[in-house]
Amino acid sequence: MSVETKLKDITVNTFFKKKNENQKITMLTAYDCSTAKYFDEAGIDAILVGDSLGMVILGYDSTTKVTMKEMEVFTAAVARGAKRAMVVADMPFMSYHLTVEEAVKNAGELIRAGASAIKLEGASDFILNVVKRCVESGIPVVGHLGFTPQYLNVLGGYKVQGKSVDKTKFILEQSLKLQDAGAFAIVLEMVPEESAKLITSKLDIATIGIGAGRYTDGQILVADDILGKFSEFKPKFARRYADLKSVISESCSKYIDDVTSGRFPDESEIFHLPVEALVELKELENCEYCCNK
Ligand code: KIV
Repeated sequence: MSVETKLKDITVNTFFKKKNENQKITMLTAYDCSTAKYFDEAGIDAILVGDSLGMVILGYDSTTKVTMKEMEVFTAAVARGAKRAMVVADMPFMSYHLTVEEAVKNAGELIRAGASAIKLEGASDFILNVVKRCVESGIPVVGHLGFTPQYLNVLGGYKVQGKSVDKTKFILEQSLKLQDAGAFAIVLEMVPEESAKLITSKLDIATIGIGAGRYTDGQILVADDILGKFSEFKPKFARRYADLKSVISESCSKYIDDVTSGRFPDESEIFHLPVEALVELKELENCEYCCNK
């Protein structure tokens, strides 16, 4: 059963319109209802329920451990919080690689969970077929090229992609194929600014950059990076706007102090019995028969 079937204010048409009018598209990841609500209220265009949640929320060492079940739960939570922003859900590792039928079925489950579009990585012939069949089935698709985290083991580490003219040409060709297959946008991750600029200029669909410089049609960052909550490492391309790690640690230390010193709870945080009941309670305290003490 769908948790969120209302068409959001931001649709695929908004992406085309913003690209054509040279207005930047803003995207952030989110994984829970309240964060999605605050981003939505702040005016973000789209929220990605990224499989980065595997690392920043679930503590896995890569995104490849994330399952469909987990993506469905987090997608539903975000969809409940985002009233106007488009919600895009990541297809997790191995959920779209075995058969086209299974891939489309899994994409459909994420739409049923509340997403308005799905994102998948790569542009092999098989993936292009998946994109085509999803779009034919009514599922909008965002592609993801450049550094593709689900291919971490094949790429051999967190490395900038497209660092030569030939490699830039390869990403451009992949982008054009994704566009032809029906994708309405492409995330370009860790690509040199010049390469991303060229690719963006050759496409009718929007590019959304993460570590891809200033000239993509939009930008996306991982929420926990901009909020300073994920502290294992800070990617060069991420800008930090807050230090939630310190806020959380300091709040927890103060709470521990307050509890152990008896300062918490205080009078304003306590419920009391009505005065009449206090008399009866006193009697109970002195009663020898109603309990063993
Ligand atoms: O999973 C994710 O958060 C992503 C972004 C890095 C684009 O795919």
